[in-house]
Amino acid sequence: MNRIFSGMQPTRQLHLGNYLGALKNWVALQKDYECVFCVVDLHAITIDHTPDVLRENIREVTAAYIAAGIDPEKNILFNQSAVPGHAELNWILACHTPLGWLNRMTQFKEKAGKHRDNAVLGLYAYPVLMAADILLYKATHVPVGEDQKQHLELARDIAGAFNRYYGKEDFFPLPEPQIMGEATRIMSLRDGTKKMSKSDESEYSRINLTDDADTIALKFRKAKTDPEPLPETVEDLEKRPEANNLVTIYAALTDSTRQQVLAQHAGSQFSGFKSALVEVAVAKLAPISAEMNRLLADKGEIDRILKRGAERAGAIADQTVAEVKDIVGLLRV
Ligand code: AMP
Ligand code: TRP
Repeated sequence: MNRIFSGMQPTRQLHLGNYLGALKNWVALQKDYECVFCVVDLHAITIDHTPDVLRENIREVTAAYIAAGIDPEKNILFNQSAVPGHAELNWILACHTPLGWLNRMTQFKEKAGKHRDNAVLGLYAYPVLMAADILLYKATHVPVGEDQKQHLELARDIAGAFNRYYGKEDFFPLPEPQIMGEATRIMSLRDGTKKMSKSDESEYSRINLTDDADTIALKFRKAKTDPEPLPETVEDLEKRPEANNLVTIYAALTDSTRQQVLAQHAGSQFSGFKSALVEVAVAKLAPISAEMNRLLADKGEIDRILKRGAERAGAIADQTVAEVKDIVGLLRV
């Protein structure tokens, strides 16, 4: 059986990278797979946070999932902390994860920065919790952006290590990453060599899902470019990080390829191309942001959707945790 699991952290607002690199693909996948979509709030507390803001962000990310087209009836949609199995399996998997594997994780090195001794244990152990998220549902496929590839490889290694240790070769499926489409890595609008990220201090580096048309226009107009017109080939485009990023965004927003975009816009100056880009971005994002606002006006309803999702997720999770306890030798009384 195939099952999808994926999640996003409720840290600040979702941006165009989250939408094009992940969320948009989830919407397409829900037709063909059984899907579990999670708001990974336990991951969000691995960095500094404010409790009241976190609570609101959890609802906002939930609203973004639904507004983008995730059907909460057909799929399971919930917040991670509402299902205790995530934290339970995390501990058990942590006891099967060599430190050497975690020491290789580049995201930890980036986030911990220079003062590694001050970084919290949760930030270091983050990829183990992520493995637990996936394996708790015995998910076979995990749609994510390019930046999560290393974490997914670790999840596969942990699944394999657990299976081998207990002599249960088929217990956890080894989850397959699904890194799909043109927009697996959207870059900052200020620097085409840095990924678009929630944590960039410049608001002009990213388009948020809730930005209004004027803000989207302003951010694209200020986006860094080079003085050349758009080239004819993808090969030439790839030598120019900022140009490549804007063409990639255009391609992903219009469900086309970069080659098709260049066929239409080669020779254009950025002033003209940016206007076209603003138009397609606003057309795509305005309905999502309007729907998010509509949903967020009724927080009770969002909480009910999450509660129902947690019950459905919990039913699968409880079963896996019981099986894992039996395998490990933990007595269920
Ligand atoms: P996060 O915001 O870190 O919780 O990421 C949620 C999802 O969005 C993950 O699947 C990421 O891989 C994806 N994602 C985040 N930033 C980008 C980006 N700049 N380009 C493409 N995908 C991204
Ligand atoms: N680490 C992921 C990110 O930052 C979020 C995440 C947590 C996730 N658990 C997951 C993604 C399980 C896919 C599957 O984007």
